[in-house]
Amino acid sequence: KPVIFSGMQPSSDSLHLGNYIGALTQWVQMQDSFDAYFCVVNQHAITVPQDPAELAARTRRTAAQYIAAGIDPARSTLFVQSHVPAHTQLAWVLNTITGFGEAGRMTQFKDKSLRYGSDATSVGLFTYPVLMAADILLYQADVVPVGEDQRQHIELTRDLATRFNSRFGETFVVPEAQIQKGTAKIYDLQSPEAKMSKSAESEAGLIKVLDPANVTRKKIMRAVTDADGEIRYDHEGKPGVSNLLTIYSVLTGRMIESIEREFEGRGYGDLKKGLAEVVEETFSPIRARTEELLSDPAELDRLLSGAADRANEVATATLDRVYDAMGLLRR
Ligand code: TYM
Repeated sequence: KPVIFSGMQPSSDSLHLGNYIGALTQWVQMQDSFDAYFCVVNQHAITVPQDPAELAARTRRTAAQYIAAGIDPARSTLFVQSHVPAHTQLAWVLNTITGFGEAGRMTQFKDKSLRYGSDATSVGLFTYPVLMAADILLYQADVVPVGEDQRQHIELTRDLATRFNSRFGETFVVPEAQIQKGTAKIYDLQSPEAKMSKSAESEAGLIKVLDPANVTRKKIMRAVTDADGEIRYDHEGKPGVSNLLTIYSVLTGRMIESIEREFEGRGYGDLKKGLAEVVEETFSPIRARTEELLSDPAELDRLLSGAADRANEVATATLDRVYDAMGLLRR
């Protein structure tokens, strides 16, 4: 079977609708036809300040949400990044073949470092995409299902794999990004020209998987639309309404045209009410299952530990080949 690898940062108490639609739903669909690795990337999370107790709790919460959303820990290898030391070991090696300018061109680094200022910006944040490349290359992944915001990082991963192979001999599979057209970027409900993000200035436009139904309903009812009043998909002209239609369509599996037809001649309030119900139907079982999983942390840790054993085996084999290819002695 071809291999997929993907991951999310445990940097919030709950995943958001963008994570769910842009990544997690794809993962669930792909886990049957691929040898799948899904990682909770806690070492990426510490590239910006984290509270230690919260980070630990959020790491388990993120893993629980993967399972609750449909990742089957018996079929897929669902593990925590810090359980597999080869990630940081390979990242070091890849750092030595990454150009300083090349890393500096990563737009996510530029955005985040502007936000934090140069003294609060860590070297870890700068080299973050290199750790991500290590994540992917260790498992010889063929496909990496992600949202649009990760495209540039996958390009870098491909460049590093190709460069390593040409300098030191064929070692890595050069992976492809899989970015779903139309759903790879879910927008903030309050500023529908910006992507939905946990680091947005206000949480008013952020829909969280684990939020109670009434909180989510209020946010959806207050979503920014436009003055034109027509329920019609037009990404450029009507970004707010188009985003609501996209979300509706993905969560119900229905075509946008069929939703437009259903709401023809009706107001935005009706569309929002309908969407709030659809979101609640999707998230309420995930919330319940997440709470259930978190009520037995020992069992969750046991699952994660078993998966880490499998991941370690594959990752160590790749790292050994890398060390041999480069002339790094190993015991
Ligand atoms: P992270 O944790 O920011 O996001 C996790 C996944 O959710 C997608 N995503 C979105 N998709 C659609 N619309 C949005 N508004 C939206 N916001 C987030 C992201 O594209 C991502 O797929 N660097 C990665 C984590 C990572 C990783 C990896 C991913 C580390 N190593 C290896 C793939 C392979 C990140 O910060 O994602």
